[in-house]
Amino acid sequence: MPDFVRDLIHSAMAEVTEANAFTAYAPSNIALSKYWGKRDSALNLPMNSSISISLGQWGSRTTVAPSPTAADIVCHNGQQLPGDADFMRRTLAFVEIFRNGRDLPLAITTENTVPTGAGLASSASGFAALTRALCGAFALELDETAMSLIARHGSGSAARSLWHGFVRWNVGEQADGSDSHGVSLDLRWPAFHIAILAVDTGPKTKSSRSGMNHTVETSPLFAAWPAMSEVDCDFIETAIAEKRFDLLGPRVEANALAMHATMLAARPSLKYLSSQSWQSLERLWEARAQGLNAFATMDAGPNIKLVFLEDETSDVLQIFPTAEVIDPFGFA
Ligand code: PMV
Repeated sequence: MPDFVRDLIHSAMAEVTEANAFTAYAPSNIALSKYWGKRDSALNLPMNSSISISLGQWGSRTTVAPSPTAADIVCHNGQQLPGDADFMRRTLAFVEIFRNGRDLPLAITTENTVPTGAGLASSASGFAALTRALCGAFALELDETAMSLIARHGSGSAARSLWHGFVRWNVGEQADGSDSHGVSLDLRWPAFHIAILAVDTGPKTKSSRSGMNHTVETSPLFAAWPAMSEVDCDFIETAIAEKRFDLLGPRVEANALAMHATMLAARPSLKYLSSQSWQSLERLWEARAQGLNAFATMDAGPNIKLVFLEDETSDVLQIFPTAEVIDPFGFA
């Protein structure tokens, strides 16, 4: 299969002989309508479109610089990684798309402001920041759309982390993936808020990549997912455009629960939600019956994220005192 992205980078890299130190930031993102299932694993092409909200100051800051030695160095959250670390292997495999066998040893430093591996999409901000930093270090003049196409190769959801605010990742039709990238919805909704209920911030035990493939291959419920989530994605985009939280909230929660239902039906069953996650959901549903206007979404980990409008913030914090509130449009 032709790989549009490799061709794009290799022509941009044709004249490059050295790297310069460059630092870039990318926000993490939470999908409101989920990406779950790949139609092409090698190119990270999704089976359906998805929509996310970026998390402002929660994200990754990455510096790419020439290595002071002949070998690559990768530091993650203040620690230099051993050569066999999974993070190092994934990072260097991604860097190789740019270097393509050329002798350009690099020092790569990444700091996350999001707990790593906790289902808070830190790989999304990580690969988006790495893409920006590599483009800067090699002085490649690529726009956000091109960078989104590249970041998608590291982690699908990274295609949505090149922008702040609401971002849609279109499923695309081309076999080479050239039309499967993020698009900023350019819609501001300052009252729109998120809260993270950290159930467990330790590293996750099952990657989203393996969970997704296992679900596609074995879950009899998966057949319904691509068309249904495409409808949800369009519905949620319209609800955002019209600032209709009454439509958005229930559909965000329904989409996430449907994704988890496809996993639960996988054989053997796949569970990312823990008993504590379910307890938080029960608490939310009880509070909602009493009038709280907040809805939940969950990814490939046990943490719960709430969506609500600014006016509900103090009520959300009363019910979930340890929640981290994020104002996606309100940071400097
Ligand atoms: O980008 P990945 O391969 O980590 O997959 C992300 C999958 C979900 O977080 C569950 C959904 C999404 O759209 O972000």
